[in-house]
Amino acid sequence: MLILSLILWIIYANPSLAQYHINRPKRVFPDFKFPSDYKDVPRVFEWKNLQYGFPSEQEREQVLRNGRYNPDSPIPIDIDVYYPRNGGPPRHFVTSPRFGQGVPYSLAYVTNVQRQNGSEIQAYPSYQWHSSHGANCDGLTSVYRVHIDPCGQMWILDSGEIEFVQYCAPQVVVFDLATDQLIHRYRLPETSYKATVSRFVNIYADIRDPPPRGQCKDVFAYLADPTSKAIVVYDVMGQNSWRIENKFTYPDAKFGTHTVAGESFELLDGPLALAVTPLGLGLRRHLVFHALSNDLELAIPLDILNNATNWQKGLSSSLSEFVTLGRRGIQCASHAISRQGIWFCGFLEPIGIFGWDIRRPYNRENVQLLALNPVTLQFVSGLKIIQRPSDGREELWLLSDRLQKIFAGTIDYGEINYRVLRCDVEDLLQGRGCF
Ligand SMILES: *[C@@H]1O[C@H](CO)[C@@H](O)[C@H](O)[C@H]1NC(C)=O
Ligand SMILES: *[C@@H]1O[C@H](CO)[C@@H](O)[C@H](O)[C@H]1NC(C)=O
Repeated sequence: MLILSLILWIIYANPSLAQYHINRPKRVFPDFKFPSDYKDVPRVFEWKNLQYGFPSEQEREQVLRNGRYNPDSPIPIDIDVYYPRNGGPPRHFVTSPRFGQGVPYSLAYVTNVQRQNGSEIQAYPSYQWHSSHGANCDGLTSVYRVHIDPCGQMWILDSGEIEFVQYCAPQVVVFDLATDQLIHRYRLPETSYKATVSRFVNIYADIRDPPPRGQCKDVFAYLADPTSKAIVVYDVMGQNSWRIENKFTYPDAKFGTHTVAGESFELLDGPLALAVTPLGLGLRRHLVFHALSNDLELAIPLDILNNATNWQKGLSSSLSEFVTLGRRGIQCASHAISRQGIWFCGFLEPIGIFGWDIRRPYNRENVQLLALNPVTLQFVSGLKIIQRPSDGREELWLLSDRLQKIFAGTIDYGEINYRVLRCDVEDLLQGRGCF
């Protein structure tokens, strides 16, 4: 508590940092109305260490003994939230890929059970979907990230690896969250990935026929493969997929060192962040993306991206269609774009959430710091915008995981290492922050 107070004092006593936090953003969302009441900081989840639940105590003891559960191995990297249409309680999903051995399952929901070191999680859709540890490719081997769409479908991206060994083909698995039924599966064909090189870490499903009028059938999903430095387009109706790999999807060695709160790690990764510009803004729609190890923000029109014919020439395909939005001079990991066209990303320095109105130039003046917290926001690995069905307001959900400490081996399980945070998007855009 004393350390936290000291850090907060340093932030507020340092005028160059404090001005970011206190000033209301001038450029982002200028016509915004100030609300009369202020919301309290909403509920968050925190873990010193992920707290796994098991079907039985015997199962927990057995996997602890045989090495399939090592409490220090799992690292959460993504969050997504489902608000049932019928007004039931929200469900919170977290992922923890099998980077190493000892991860009992890589997709879970957060329960209300409070344990010593954080909330208990349980396997989704069931423990059996995960328990073969790579032996059964009809289950889930290693889920990196998920995307819950406006139809209540969860798009699950499974890299198929354990400890970087490919057990199963990478796959996209879709569950209907209203019924918890499997509704779709697509195993990537060998033309869409590079065996032993690819690692699929992020998915964005663009629903082109959304509710209430649409059927949620006309979908293009975009998959990020940072180790083979490519984006894969999956045309769901056409049952086809193709790779986009060129100079725009490559990392930049100048951004291969990632420094967070004074600790550094090396990673030369290609595409990570994916988001599409919203329907209904009257603009030509684009996929906005960036490589983790690059400061370039890029876009490609969806009409070009979604036509396989445009990508038949490999590295030289459609290069002139890529739009260089700008350079931010620092890395940021996952990003999302709100319904109104505001982009959000968590920067490594200063450690905060930045916002940008996609209609303006991507430059220092327009990319604004909205919230700053060097303690809770260290490495924002998961970031989603979710619309609450009850009142239509949008929420920004974040998962931060102090990745730099994991790489450096300095992680201390006596302190909070993993956090799920939530902000009201409108509050954030007014510079109130919410952390
Ligand atoms: C796809 O692109 C090619 C040219 O690259 C064009 O001839 C064709 O009409 C396009 N298909 C559709 C469905 O737009
Ligand atoms: C909780 O964390 C403490 C401190 O790191 C550790 O000693 C203990 O075993 C953990 N308990 C559980 C249930 O993970």
